[in-house]
Amino acid sequence: MDFKNILFEVKNKIGFVTINRPDKLNALNNETLDELYYCFSAVKNDEEIDVVIITGSGEKAFVAGADISELSKLNSETAKDFSEKGQSIFKLIENLGKPVIAAVNGFALGGGCELAMACSIRYASEKAKFGQPEVNLGIIPGYGGTQRLARIVNTGLAAEIILTGDIIDANEALRIGLVNKVYPSDQLICKAVELAEKISAKGQIAIRLSLDAINKTDQLNLENGLSFEAKLFGDCCGTQDFKEGTSAFLEKRKPNFTGK
Ligand code: COA
Repeated sequence: MDFKNILFEVKNKIGFVTINRPDKLNALNNETLDELYYCFSAVKNDEEIDVVIITGSGEKAFVAGADISELSKLNSETAKDFSEKGQSIFKLIENLGKPVIAAVNGFALGGGCELAMACSIRYASEKAKFGQPEVNLGIIPGYGGTQRLARIVNTGLAAEIILTGDIIDANEALRIGLVNKVYPSDQLICKAVELAEKISAKGQIAIRLSLDAINKTDQLNLENGLSFEAKLFGDCCGTQDFKEGTSAFLEKRKPNFTGK
């Protein structure tokens, strides 16, 4: 797949998506959002990809937000569509059916923080900075920030971050649970690849159904969530991967999962 604003390649069942507008700190303009949509739609159906790593091009930014030069032209009629378009692409990423690891290499502001939050797992470099500075522009986060930040951290911390527009560093993001791990910049991608390889070696049906169940926690109460889990657990036990995983354990060997 060839794009203008993103780079995409696949190596060893890992898809690498790099937002590539470094001169604009990888800000998400309309064209880049369209490309992300086409890229992730293709990745969703590509059986040669188990895990995706998304990062930003250049030394400075993961994504510094929605493109403010486009955003500034919105009015009350066009803005709702603008918000819903970004939200739908981030929902596609969140519900991709395979893990997406955000390797946050620099500024993750506004839409950049929202993109990272739509990913399954967030790793950050020591240089990463997070924030939802939309209030400084007279708007609220529109690509899911009010909803996902409150769920990932808590409503009090989300309120402080969103209402002040303050930028927090990687260690603070780690402390509040916004990212899972922080690494020196030159190790970030290696660590994300190690994680992706570890996940790729598992049975991919179990990976997909685990994510399905985890993603349902926002929609289901505990009782319905447990029923959903039991159903998916049953589905797993009908797979060849289940037979292979349990046999391999009992035969004291490594499993060779086929995703069937
Ligand atoms: N939209 C459009 N362009 C952006 C952008 C955005 N969200 N963020 C950065 N850029 C552009 C700048 O306009 C500048 O372009 P130019 O060289 O053509 O003037 C280039 O990227 C470099 O940014 P600059 O501001 O010069 O870098 P900096 O190191 O001084 O500051 C930031 C970095 C991230 C603090 C600053 O760029 C910023 O505040 N960006 C906006 C963040 C934001 O509000 N995001 C939420 C949007 S809803």
